[in-house]
Amino acid sequence: MNASDRQAILTQQKPTRIWHGEPYFGSEYGAEEIDAVVATMRRCMDPEVGFSGGEEIGEFEERFAAFCGVEHAVSVNSAGVGLDLAMMCLDLEPGDEVICPTINFKAAPLSIAGQGGQWIPCESHPRSFQMDPVDAESRITPRTRALYPVHMNGCSAPMDELLAVAARHEHPKHGPIKVIGDAARACGGGYKDGKIGALGWCTVFSFHTMKNMVTLGEGGMVVTNDADLAARMRRIRFFGGDAEWGSSYLMNRVQAALGSVQVGRLEALVDRRRALAHARDRMLAGLDAILTPYEPDECRHSYYLYTLLVRPELGGEWRDRLRALLQERHGVETIVANPPVHSTSEFLRRHTGNPPLPIAEEIGRRLFCLPIAPTMTDAENEYLCAALWDAVEVLGAPAASAG
Ligand SMILES: Cc1ncc(COP(=O)(O)O)c(C=O)c1O
Repeated sequence: MNASDRQAILTQQKPTRIWHGEPYFGSEYGAEEIDAVVATMRRCMDPEVGFSGGEEIGEFEERFAAFCGVEHAVSVNSAGVGLDLAMMCLDLEPGDEVICPTINFKAAPLSIAGQGGQWIPCESHPRSFQMDPVDAESRITPRTRALYPVHMNGCSAPMDELLAVAARHEHPKHGPIKVIGDAARACGGGYKDGKIGALGWCTVFSFHTMKNMVTLGEGGMVVTNDADLAARMRRIRFFGGDAEWGSSYLMNRVQAALGSVQVGRLEALVDRRRALAHARDRMLAGLDAILTPYEPDECRHSYYLYTLLVRPELGGEWRDRLRALLQERHGVETIVANPPVHSTSEFLRRHTGNPPLPIAEEIGRRLFCLPIAPTMTDAENEYLCAALWDAVEVLGAPAASAG
């Protein structure tokens, strides 16, 4: 992207809508979704039918399980609840530990603490932002019950390495360490020959309004190949059956009918995110202050977020001034997703005692995300890149050789 192209784009292609750093509307609803919602609403208004339960739920679960290449999918009303369910089914006892990266949204760490477990925060790879298997293994103790990777920002965690780590360690009472994935941001992402969700004890997805596919604002799914686990989750999500504690974590039929349509379009929605991201990589090539996202060969990144890093010596204040300048000069919003949550959340700081995690702190000073969504136009995508070039030039970055 040369200087005269950039000037033309900045003057002629300013978006008429505001794109938030993490856009609220991750997906889009077409005629098929609207028809499915209206038809289901009409059917459910019959007092003999109602909005709860029903064949739409089973159908959505089957479609989602087939998409992920797993045997069971259990729908819930949010990923937060799905993560809680996963921790409940671990039957954590006081002192039990779960290892989970601190470059993360706080939902997974909170789910550990919520079930009485101890979150052990770990480091992430500085380019992929995924849980570091070597660092995770170094934190395993006889109290470790699970590794809890987050498929950060739409790309897969290194599942084979994490499963190999887990297989090398046994909890004295509960046996092999489990691997549980938080894929709230990674619906439709791929890993090796399969989809995110195919590996590990279970994986949790979100259909919240910002996510890769959406079910009317809220929604989630847990997938697993463990039939007993799926059956137990189904009991807990509806008041525990007869034998155990439970509550109501149900999704409704209208959301499920919509979800079935969305999962049919998920591949195309992710393709659009990927096309925008790859075009962006090309437009930002040569902008020395910035590193564009890293997509490992074995991954099909879903680009839930487009995560940039500033050069190491530009972390912190320079990165923050760049973000402010993007907003002031061009109306471009960005987010930092995510700084280390063990040190930035007061509750989690108290829970963990705020141990030193220097790699995560360094990532937290350097990363930021430009908006991306499948509904974004190519012209809007070009504008964001031109704005970033301009802001870097106005701010002035020291020459690359300095770092
Ligand atoms: C990584 C991660 N985990 C969990 C969640 C929680 O998802 P939900 O809003 O569906 O509860 C989010 C939501 O932003 C997330 O980003």
